[in-house]
Amino acid sequence: MVLVRNEVPADAGAREALLDRAFGPARFLKTCERLRAGRLPAEGLAFAAEQGGRFVGTLRFWHVAAGDGRPALMLGPLAVERDARCGGVGSALIEAGLDAAATLGHGAVILVGDAPYYERFGFQAETTEGLAMPGPVERARFLGLELAPRALAGARGLVRATGAVAFTPWAADVSRVPGRAA
Ligand SMILES: CC(C)(COP(=O)(O)OP(=O)(O)OC[C@H]1O[C@@H](n2cnc3c(N)ncnc32)[C@H](O)[C@@H]1OP(=O)(O)O)[C@@H](O)C(=O)NCCC(=O)NCCS
Repeated sequence: MVLVRNEVPADAGAREALLDRAFGPARFLKTCERLRAGRLPAEGLAFAAEQGGRFVGTLRFWHVAAGDGRPALMLGPLAVERDARCGGVGSALIEAGLDAAATLGHGAVILVGDAPYYERFGFQAETTEGLAMPGPVERARFLGLELAPRALAGARGLVRATGAVAFTPWAADVSRVPGRAA
């Protein structure tokens, strides 16, 4: 049985190790990473999946502006431990995530991923036709889903990060500033 719950700070290590195993170091080179780097995920939209008390899956959503300043979420990364795949964990994460996003009032979700997987949740490439990502993506993998009617209708332009900036403790460490030794 799979339990999907909100992520907590103590999950960070397990989440990052799972993402390293699933995607390797190249994960930081993905175009989507340009929209995630230095940002916090959308409030209430970072999820962990557990099976028998073990962390087996992760999914987070991020605030973006889809083209002409239109608010949207970007889904990803999604990853499930290899030995837990094909048991519905990925689907449970996506369904819980989309339900929560709709409940929180979000109107649209975009992602870059395998259409044969994401189409089952309603994602389509047609929805993102007028949009551009801030780096290379295969158009067939650039998908969108409207949670509210016409939330992406006519959306045109560049997708930009709009999430809260992540706090980096070293940036606030004044002891590193010359003349300000602690
Ligand atoms: C993609 C992933 C999250 C799916 O997780 P999961 O828990 O196995 O998903 P589910 O159990 O809900 O669904 C499994 C079904 O999806 C299919 N599927 C999995 N990955 C797929 C893909 N990339 N394209 C098409 N179908 C895919 C499986 O064949 C299976 O099909 P079936 O239901 O007909 O047997 C998991 O395979 C994973 O972590 N992969 C590595 C990271 C990754 O690629 N993340 C997604 C980025 S696009």
